[in-house]
Amino acid sequence: MKPTLTTERLLLRPVRSEDALHLVDLDRAPEVRRFVDQPEAPTLEQCRTVVERMLGIDASTPAIGFWIAEERSQFVGWFHLKPPREGEPAEAGDLELGYRLLQRGWGRGLATEGSRELIRYAFETLGAPRVTAVALEGNVASMRVMEKLGMRPWLRWEYRARGGGKVPAVTSAITRECR
Ligand SMILES: CC(C)(COP(=O)(O)OP(=O)(O)OC[C@H]1O[C@@H](n2cnc3c(N)ncnc32)[C@H](O)[C@@H]1OP(=O)(O)O)[C@@H](O)C(=O)NCCC(=O)NCCS
Repeated sequence: MKPTLTTERLLLRPVRSEDALHLVDLDRAPEVRRFVDQPEAPTLEQCRTVVERMLGIDASTPAIGFWIAEERSQFVGWFHLKPPREGEPAEAGDLELGYRLLQRGWGRGLATEGSRELIRYAFETLGAPRVTAVALEGNVASMRVMEKLGMRPWLRWEYRARGGGKVPAVTSAITRECR
């Protein structure tokens, strides 16, 4: 089963159905969607579908998946640690880290703090060989988070966006040995 994890400021807990309401708040902000291939603000119904998909991934990969991040019992965003999506460049055994926070949470090191705990969990508890993360070109904040985590650019490639276009992307990685 996926554990609840804690950091100095964050509680990382499993996703629940009612988190769809939080996802509406999160994904309504254009700034949040800017680099995540989500051009339209989602409806509550669409967020319910997203939560169902998150729960589906959680069920098929019990020790990993999505975590909701709370700061002082308040929703602040989510993290994931899961197998890379099909078609993405990856090596066998890779776990892909991801994060998305409410704008009011930005700039205080929360993405780095939560990610550090998930990387520790991936290496120390799960024995993963490598953790990767993908950023679309221009997502300076996300690239900086990866850099602070000790991840280094591994591969540049073209992400196929939902609209059909291609967007330059970078996969960064950190291995258990180089941590
Ligand atoms: C990316 C994201 C998770 C970062 O969260 P965060 O909690 O602000 O991240 P941190 O505070 O840990 O680190 C952010 C770093 O980027 C830097 N940064 C942010 N915006 C920047 C910019 N436009 N130019 C240069 N550096 C920038 C910050 O200064 C900080 O670096 P520092 O600690 O050296 O000062 C947050 O911006 C977010 O949720 N964005 C929307 C969703 C998204 O893009 N997710 C990632 C998809 S790959």
